[in-house]
Amino acid sequence: MRQTNGEIWKDTKGQDIQAHGGMIMEHQDIYYWYGENKAGANRLSSIGGQMVDFIGISCYHSSNLTDWYDDGLVLTPESLASLKEKVKIVERPKVIYNKKMQKFVLWFHYDHDDYSYAAAGVATSSSPTGPFELVKVFHPNRKDVRDMTLYQENEKAYLIHSSDFNKTMVIAELTDDYLDVTGLYTKILVDQEREAPAIFRTKDYYFMITSGTTGWKPNEALVSRSTHLNIPAKILGNPLTGKDYRKTFFGQSTYIFQKDNQFYLMLDHWKSTDLRHSGYSILPIVLSEDGKDVTIPWTAHPFETA
Ligand code: GAL
Repeated sequence: MRQTNGEIWKDTKGQDIQAHGGMIMEHQDIYYWYGENKAGANRLSSIGGQMVDFIGISCYHSSNLTDWYDDGLVLTPESLASLKEKVKIVERPKVIYNKKMQKFVLWFHYDHDDYSYAAAGVATSSSPTGPFELVKVFHPNRKDVRDMTLYQENEKAYLIHSSDFNKTMVIAELTDDYLDVTGLYTKILVDQEREAPAIFRTKDYYFMITSGTTGWKPNEALVSRSTHLNIPAKILGNPLTGKDYRKTFFGQSTYIFQKDNQFYLMLDHWKSTDLRHSGYSILPIVLSEDGKDVTIPWTAHPFETA
């Protein structure tokens, strides 16, 4: 199925794909796309922001990254029934596989509808298509967690999250079972007010792409670079090129994945007053010849060149 960047993508049944703020994980040659199901009515939160009450985390699978089969909800309000509060906000779900435990581990941003709680949730499943069972909701390293992602390298994994009320990005090492943090963490992009982190590694460098903090409104992306995860990163600038590059093509970063030696950036194209119809795009990341910089051009369709 030919998908169009910037628009809402369709699954194999012709239904809107509901996997916002998401990620694509590869496991045994199958791609799994996890994200927020926002197929409900928009409402105003207690602080006046647009939102859709938590419906669930969706999963879709594909072997070619364009034909997506709906696997339904892998985390639901019922999965979180042990929490005292009625669950309103579960955002930016990310899943990694823990080989030692033979478990898929899901982390997400958990919040109350005024975004005051700012916690992380952890859930596990023995299957990539769930159901995921809640392990806990907590403040890792006693910090606030807002937009977040996971990064895995060999058997080590890290939680990367906006913190200090979005002033700072934190890279926190996870324990071997991926269910907790070890207490070792690094602050990067201090005072830069970045969110929507997406990260990838080349031979020599880690690159992180983030957005500014303007809610559902698009803003300018920023790429930063470092040689190690536990040191401050060098800020490089906006990696996007072409029309609307200062608005991230009206999108916001959510994840970077690799396929055949090529890295791809996933964007959400939020429709703030109609969140369920927010679009997606997948754009190729172009590395400079010296490997020290990246650019990201717009392409009308995923996996096709401009
Ligand atoms: C954005 C954030 C989204 C969501 C939204 C709510 O800044 O990236 O994940 O939290 O704000 O307004």
